[in-house]
Amino acid sequence: MKKKVSVIGAGNVGASLAQLIVHSGIADVVLFDIAEGIPQGKALDLAEACPVWQSSSSVLGTNDFADTTGSDIIVVTAGFPRKPGMSRDDLLFANAKVVSDVVAGTSKLSPDSIIIAVTNPMDVMAQVSMDVSGFRPERVMGMGGILDSARFRTFVAWEAGVSPEDVEALVLGGHGDLMVPMPRFTTVKGVSITELFSAERIDALVQRTRHGGAEIVSLLKSGSAYYAPAAATFQMVKSVILDEKRLLPCAAYLNGEYGVTGYYTGVPVVLGESGIERIVELKLNAEEEKDLDKSVVAVKMLVEKLK
Ligand code: APR
Repeated sequence: MKKKVSVIGAGNVGASLAQLIVHSGIADVVLFDIAEGIPQGKALDLAEACPVWQSSSSVLGTNDFADTTGSDIIVVTAGFPRKPGMSRDDLLFANAKVVSDVVAGTSKLSPDSIIIAVTNPMDVMAQVSMDVSGFRPERVMGMGGILDSARFRTFVAWEAGVSPEDVEALVLGGHGDLMVPMPRFTTVKGVSITELFSAERIDALVQRTRHGGAEIVSLLKSGSAYYAPAAATFQMVKSVILDEKRLLPCAAYLNGEYGVTGYYTGVPVVLGESGIERIVELKLNAEEEKDLDKSVVAVKMLVEKLK
């Protein structure tokens, strides 16, 4: 039997993610939304693409939590996206309510599942998901670091004039304006960008990465990015479903790692069928540590605000 992934929220991110999963054929998909007709219509459309994609995945659209029963993964994309001028943090209260509702509705029906929070502000929504589900921290994680690193990789690839495939990048910390792109760990075919570009150019690439989400919001004017967020979430889903044990930056609940206890933040983790199988601790220099601390303080402030 195929694994089952329930995508909660059939909007731009959720539907794009469902498309990637169904196209890949690695799992069956349940697409859930509060809006009547939307998940059913998008699921039917995806099902009708399967013959062309030669995919045997099944896809069901629903407004009923019962259809998510027995999921291996629950991806939470339900909630409100940003509008121009808004930060991810401005979505805090409205999205916390949505995320609590959908996690309460789904987690009991899939007690062995892994939850991936995508809704923003994501680090806080991962914490809400863990609190509401009561799941162990290894089984609740957030998507942010892969997306932020992919943005950094794109900008570095353009700067170097090479394919983004040949660029590795790392972004740590909260998925917000104080995220921490790590030039020392960002390489073009193994060579750190600190050896390739001037400090000024690196700073420009870091700033563009930090504001990568806002740049798209300001262009779209009605909503936020979804192709790259869906692609990043798909990489997490795939690593879990196929037990790939990819080493990826994800929001993980830290228990002393990186000097942080009791909060979610973006760090490199090994992702496999049991969820976060290992948190990898990198040796940071003083400046990197300071930037990571600042980013974690911003996450903590939001968590406290919610209390
Ligand atoms: N239960 C289920 N679905 C809900 C609920 C709810 N309580 N509230 C809202 N939704 C659904 C909406 O009906 C909509 O279809 O969530 C979907 C959100 O889709 P979009 O508005 O298209 O937003 P999207 O771009 O997909 O972003 C969703 O992901 O990246 C983050 O910041 C982004 O928080 C945002 C989330």
